[in-house]
Amino acid sequence: MELFEVIAKRRSIRDYEPVHIPREHLEKIVDVGRLAPSGRNAQPLEYIVITENKLIHELAKVQDCIGQASAVIAIVADPEVSNFWREDAAAAAENMLLATTDLNYASVWIQGTLEPKEEWAKDLLDVPAGKRLPIMLPLGRAKIPPATKKKPLAELVHWNHYSNRI
Ligand SMILES: Cc1cc2nc3c(=O)[nH]c(=O)nc-3n(C[C@H](O)[C@H](O)[C@H](O)COP(=O)(O)O)c2cc1C
Repeated sequence: MELFEVIAKRRSIRDYEPVHIPREHLEKIVDVGRLAPSGRNAQPLEYIVITENKLIHELAKVQDCIGQASAVIAIVADPEVSNFWREDAAAAAENMLLATTDLNYASVWIQGTLEPKEEWAKDLLDVPAGKRLPIMLPLGRAKIPPATKKKPLAELVHWNHYSNRI
């Protein structure tokens, strides 16, 4: 798919059918996380690719839809390496969501529901105490088409001055 098409197609999906995701696709997705920009190029992120059913079912405690996923990618950040780890994780997550869309899988950015369960999830995945686990991306095949609506561009854009819309 062409880049603008992929960006327009990406939407959060929270209902998945099981699908075999080859290791090559998982590596491709994580690799575009690696290529995302990072503050001062500090690259404070690592990735856990979760393919074991038992772990995936446990992770449904974070959010139900994770239990239907065929794989999950968790972003691990080292705050000792960079103060920008949150922004870096966000950039990596978006890159990976776009790659996921391009490969015809579905996903959703899991952060809000992970925050209160972060320590529990770190323990489950053996993440060292000093590191953070800000975002998870469950991957599957979409069961239903996405429905989110976006505000129209004209409502959001100002030219040169905030008061100027044209
Ligand atoms: C910072 C951030 C945190 C999010 N946390 C969650 C979450 O915990 N669970 C969830 O289902 N969706 C989460 N989302 C996805 C948003 O709900 C979703 O992107 C938004 O509703 C817009 O829909 P779209 O992704 O289809 O454009 C999060 C998105 C962002 C950017």
